[in-house]
Amino acid sequence: MDVVKENVPAYDNIGFQHEDTRPPPYAPRAGIYPSLPQATPSYVITHAPENTLQSTPQENVQNKGRKKCKWSRILPVSIFVLLILAVLTLLLWYFLYYQCAFGRACWNSGKCLSFSQWCDGVVDCPDGEDESKCFRLHGSNFLLQSYSSQSQSWMPVCADKWDDDYGKLVCEEMGYKSKDYVTYSKTNAGSLASKGFMKLVPGSDKKSHILSQLSHSLFCLQNTVGLRCIDCGKTIAAPSSRIVGGTEASQGAWPWQVSLQSLSSRHICGGSIISPLWIVSAAHCFEGSSNSSEWIVRSGDVSLLEMKLYNGNEVRQIISHEKFDSETNDNDIALLKLKKPLTFSRKVKPVCLLNNGMELMAGTPAWITGWGKLRSSGPLPDKLNQAQVTIYNREDCNKPNILDGAITETMICAGELKGGVDSCQGDSGGPLVVKEADVWWLVGDTSWGIGCALKNRPGVYGNVTHFLDWIYRHTQSE
Ligand code: ARG
Repeated sequence: MDVVKENVPAYDNIGFQHEDTRPPPYAPRAGIYPSLPQATPSYVITHAPENTLQSTPQENVQNKGRKKCKWSRILPVSIFVLLILAVLTLLLWYFLYYQCAFGRACWNSGKCLSFSQWCDGVVDCPDGEDESKCFRLHGSNFLLQSYSSQSQSWMPVCADKWDDDYGKLVCEEMGYKSKDYVTYSKTNAGSLASKGFMKLVPGSDKKSHILSQLSHSLFCLQNTVGLRCIDCGKTIAAPSSRIVGGTEASQGAWPWQVSLQSLSSRHICGGSIISPLWIVSAAHCFEGSSNSSEWIVRSGDVSLLEMKLYNGNEVRQIISHEKFDSETNDNDIALLKLKKPLTFSRKVKPVCLLNNGMELMAGTPAWITGWGKLRSSGPLPDKLNQAQVTIYNREDCNKPNILDGAITETMICAGELKGGVDSCQGDSGGPLVVKEADVWWLVGDTSWGIGCALKNRPGVYGNVTHFLDWIYRHTQSE
């Protein structure tokens, strides 16, 4: 899966790739400067009395009048060369300045800042980008990392003097609501602390900007901060293990699963809750209708009939991925923003999005859930079904006898190569989740397949990890 870059300020495991926006270091190409005229001695051949060949510098045989003539030619040439040099220097400076070769440019305005101006607690970009992505969570233990402008790398945050108020402040910085805040824990950063820590400076207070109160330190008395900004990925019931080849889910086992329905309460697609206001689903679900007022989101029960008895949630906005391709199903992901926030309960809860540095390995057992068909041409069930599948690596999925090159990097294929277990029509948009460190993580959204549960035809899911930046960009924009 996507390999994660270190030393980059972003919350997600794609990171901001400053290599992408920064030009390669300036390396002057040979020949960019015109070479200065050199005094190359030239030789004339004179006949020596002994009839041997002898070379004599030309200068020696030139008269004074010719020397004068040479100087009058060199002067305008050197002025010309100097002029060219000046123009080149100017162009070079212009180029380096605009390419921001010795710093990083603000994303929106292109204003060039020095590296040390990023995440230093002082807003320098007109839109504040330099201070907007300075915290992220790392790994399955939610280790808090802060970007250190001094060492230009991500550092774990020392728990010395830390409390819930600081936790809430940082969660808000990362785009979470402080009412969703859960807790912080003292976590061991292990090798991530090899370069030191970011630590609250003495006399810190909660009124000024938190970044300006963190400074690089080699020592930390307590452990480092693990931060839970939202209570995600927890269930009250373990999966008991149809979708095809699955079993009925028990109440509360998949509290992030929602049913996306038409106003007549017909189930059309699935979706996953990621926060009180936001649902992840598939873009292809909205090809028929992308009008938010024609959709209703139902949650909190395994039975569609039960859910009908309660009011669903109205949708404020549907954001389908702008690069969704209905031919290939590339970029098949969408976000739904609800009109009113969901109230979390035992049966309604968000799933976690992968933290930075978490890798999805092929062979990992994963679960799919949905109200889709139990066999290709069957009816939709009333009860939510679940099935365990295996995640395959892209190379295997793309083999000619399997999905023959159709799996792009925005997709994941998962299922059972021997057949019998799969998602099917009606499961689209719903979750593909994995469990790690006792937390459930959303890694895919049900997208497409060839038939259902056929041999060598695993199901295809949107690669949610690939879209993390996109998701954060849209959900955190306010
Ligand atoms: N596109 C389908 C839907 O709209 C999902 C199909 C998944 N198919 C599969 N064989 N895994 O519900």
